[in-house]
Amino acid sequence: MALVTGAAGGIGLASARALAADGCRIALADLDPDGLEQAKAALADTGAVVETIVLNVADEASVKAGFATAEAVLGPVSILVLCAGIMGGGPGISSELADVTLEQWEQVNAVNARGTFLCMREFLRRRREMPVSDGRIITLSSAAGQLGGYRGDPAYVASKAAILGLTKIAARQCAEQGITVNCIAAGPVRTGMFERAMDPDAVPGLAARIPLGRVGSADDVAGAVRYLAGDAARWITGATLDVNGGYRMQ
Ligand SMILES: NC(=O)c1ccc[n+]([C@@H]2O[C@H](COP(=O)([O-])OP(=O)(O)OC[C@H]3O[C@@H](n4cnc5c(N)ncnc54)[C@H](O)[C@@H]3O)[C@@H](O)[C@H]2O)c1
Repeated sequence: MALVTGAAGGIGLASARALAADGCRIALADLDPDGLEQAKAALADTGAVVETIVLNVADEASVKAGFATAEAVLGPVSILVLCAGIMGGGPGISSELADVTLEQWEQVNAVNARGTFLCMREFLRRRREMPVSDGRIITLSSAAGQLGGYRGDPAYVASKAAILGLTKIAARQCAEQGITVNCIAAGPVRTGMFERAMDPDAVPGLAARIPLGRVGSADDVAGAVRYLAGDAARWITGATLDVNGGYRMQ
């Protein structure tokens, strides 16, 4: 069974669709109940067993309860895809570090960094009690976390960098349990988050700086999720996969 957070839209929903195509039962987890119902309806054509779980990744009790409900209905989670995330700032809002409020910092880090930690921890606690063969954790970072984010939200950049490190320590600690942990560092991807953050006039210039000549789609990232979740990626752990059209090269 695959549990996908942030699954009401964007990369999470596209990832759920890709995993459904591989025959997974899917728990769609998100803060947004209406979005979840729409997402479930959108996956009806896959024929997969899909359940919705309303959950706030930043809240310890909500994560615990969400996993308990998902596993009671669908069985143990073997693939965990952590897409839930938020970005502060946006057009017209200062992204100067000197102007970032503590509230903004806490809010963004609570969802992106703490939320990734809480979901990972709940998964690992449950797999300690009930192991699965070939477990997978896939985290979502960003080229912003790798590059510094230029004019982006500093709290977002820091939270996405935290995920890079958390992925690696988790990969070391989970290996003995047969669980791989990998991160996708996505470049600019046209989703709700992208639309809210980007000045539309700046999009052509951004696309021109991407060697493959365009902003990514949620399906571009979902393809990488599907690969990392599958048997073909069984000897990959602790890796960060750049899915960015060449926007950042190592
Ligand atoms: N779009 C991009 O350009 C881009 C680039 C790099 C990385 N990412 C990362 O990919 C992931 C998915 O982003 P997206 O672009 O699909 O964004 P999105 O805004 O389309 O989707 C994010 C989802 O997370 C959910 N969510 C937010 N707070 C939550 C919470 N506290 N608990 C549960 N769910 C919550 C939202 O309701 C939404 O459905 C994020 O972690 C983001 O940082 C996105």
